[in-house]
Amino acid sequence: MAYCSIAIDGPSGAGKSSMAKAIAAKYSFIYVDTGAIYRTVGLAAHRRGISCSDEAAVSKILPELNIEMKYDGQGEQRMYLDGEDVSSDIRLPEISICASDVSALPAVRAFLLEMQRSMARTNNVIMDGRDIGTVVLPDADVKIFLTASSAERARRRLLQLMEKGINEDYEKVLREIEYRDQQDSNRDIAPLKPADDAVIVDTSELDIDGTIAVLSSIIEERLDLN
Ligand code: DC
Repeated sequence: MAYCSIAIDGPSGAGKSSMAKAIAAKYSFIYVDTGAIYRTVGLAAHRRGISCSDEAAVSKILPELNIEMKYDGQGEQRMYLDGEDVSSDIRLPEISICASDVSALPAVRAFLLEMQRSMARTNNVIMDGRDIGTVVLPDADVKIFLTASSAERARRRLLQLMEKGINEDYEKVLREIEYRDQQDSNRDIAPLKPADDAVIVDTSELDIDGTIAVLSSIIEERLDLN
């Protein structure tokens, strides 16, 4: 049986995960948050006191890491590191930076590629990340590149953190977003960029329902769901 795949790429804070979750629920697809996998590697390096941009040191720990992705009863993706549920810890701001740092390392990207592809071989997936349409699933049925201004993305990220009880300063969140944009877009391997056949959607002026409506019409047209 052939499975359908939807790739959503874009910079941090563009609304990829909220959109992918909503779309997954609407069309009964499995949502795969690939950033969470990079975050788990970043957390593992951080916990070992290793510099997240030290390729030799990070490569050395990869074979000993037991990273698992599981879905709970509500269909929420949970990340496990050596048997421990680290789904909250990987969201800490310092781990965002570690995730971006380790994600620039070719050894890390190669290590995580198969884990991501195997999900799409056995499920209808909507997968979000930076290189899903370009590298992980180049044959995805639908490719969307979701973006928004950095100021708007920082505002949204701040709200998200507040909902989780984490209080942060706007300027700090904006700087972190701009650091990650710069690094994720300019790395040599699998940089953040739209696939040639991706539809680019700017959400700066759209609310959640408006964005869902735009994405739904793209998906329904591409998957011939009408
Ligand atoms: O989506 P996120 O903010 O949780 O991702 C964390 C970091 O992981 C991000 O700065 C870049 C990296 N990443 C990546 O390089 N490729 C992906 N497919 C997903 C995330």
